[in-house]
Amino acid sequence: MSLNITDVKLAVDGQLIEGGISIRDGRIDKIGRTAQLAKADRIVNGKGLIAIPGLIDAHVHLRDMELSYKEDFSSGTLAAAAGGFTTVLDMPNTRPPTSSDGRLVEKMAKARTAIHVNVGFYASLSESATDLRQMTNAGAIAFKLYMNEPNPDAWHNDRQRLLSSLEECGALRVPVAVHAENGPAIAKIQTRYREAGRNSMRDFLRAHAPKFELEAVRTIMDHARLTHSKIHVCHLSTHRSLREISAARKKGVEITCELTPHHLLLDTNDLNRKGGHALMVPPLRRHGDTKALWRAMLRGDIDIVASDHAPHSLEEKSARDVWTVRPGLPGLETTLPLLLTRVHRNEITLAALVKLLAKNPARVFGLQGKGRLEEGMDGDLALIDPKARFKIDSSKFYSKAHFSPFDGVECVGWPVVTIVAGRVVYDRGEVVEENQGKIVRGVRR
Ligand code: NCD
Ligand code: ZN
Ligand code: ZN
Ligand code: ZN
Repeated sequence: MSLNITDVKLAVDGQLIEGGISIRDGRIDKIGRTAQLAKADRIVNGKGLIAIPGLIDAHVHLRDMELSYKEDFSSGTLAAAAGGFTTVLDMPNTRPPTSSDGRLVEKMAKARTAIHVNVGFYASLSESATDLRQMTNAGAIAFKLYMNEPNPDAWHNDRQRLLSSLEECGALRVPVAVHAENGPAIAKIQTRYREAGRNSMRDFLRAHAPKFELEAVRTIMDHARLTHSKIHVCHLSTHRSLREISAARKKGVEITCELTPHHLLLDTNDLNRKGGHALMVPPLRRHGDTKALWRAMLRGDIDIVASDHAPHSLEEKSARDVWTVRPGLPGLETTLPLLLTRVHRNEITLAALVKLLAKNPARVFGLQGKGRLEEGMDGDLALIDPKARFKIDSSKFYSKAHFSPFDGVECVGWPVVTIVAGRVVYDRGEVVEENQGKIVRGVRR
């Protein structure tokens, strides 16, 4: 099986080159002049389009199983394909949670026949070295630590226990992704507010104050310094915590970090206007934070942009009480168009975007063969039309989550074709070849 994309612009090595690309048996076989490509079974005319490496979303909640009313492997990976993502990493906060090698194996077995793009799996961070080793052997890409868990007696709040778990992850060379918010502190305020009948957006923002992110970031950085673990901080929301991370990195602390499009493009004004549909954790921050985060991203202080695609039912998003609204929003189908629009406005380069959404996630999570257009790499690509204009319309999402705080936003730049291992899975609104996704496993480190 072979596929040629002809007369296209290719995002290779930070440059745009004109030519063609041929994919044979799932891998990039040749990048060169269109006329030089060998004959192929299938031709895609790339005129007017740009080929970029298939994007990698390192932070996605595909849900499924008992939460499949929110999203399932099929709907979530179709959303990915429609958004230009060819690989997504699935979070372990499912029901049941991905908290043992058995659970991980079950999840993989269920996903295997249902996925339209490649999927790798996180597993929950455990204090048991045996569990960590078994989940690693079962193919976990990374572990996830939820510091925002409300229970103050959770094992990870014990410094020694967390340190020894992280040391083990370091020895296994498996990255640990962290939700950095001080959960017990937030829970205390939340309980006090609830009892007092306080449930406005402002109360939610006070409970999830920036200082609680900063405290958790400081704790985990301290641990990163003391162990040989590879810590990755998820969805940073404030300038302050980012500044501390950047400073620590300059002193040699090995730590990586991630931003979401919503923390880059929306602020508390949007939360006040849109209510529950714009509610997530950590929450939207003030305009000054968004601007500072954007600048930091341009400076190269951010490793990864990830959507934190966190689907919920409309009912769950529309609860009257702010403490009952489920935090999170779908992002797979909006991330690339929103950011391509910023490329169109010259606010960021396409090369920087490809680095944040493909090259760096592959590096941070050790995804072999992915993240770059290069001969020998996997044949995962997205073709974008940099001039196509569309309005975001969540009622048309492949995701089951039909809401978005970005509804109605006009975008310039859209993914039009998505190719997984040389197979066209998505073409201008249509699903073409189904179930082309493969399970991505952590490499033996
Ligand atoms: C996520 C979810 O719904 O699973 N929600 C969110 O607001 N970000 C959880 C998480 O990523 O922390
Ligand atoms: Zn989180
Ligand atoms: Zn998340
Ligand atoms: Zn224009």
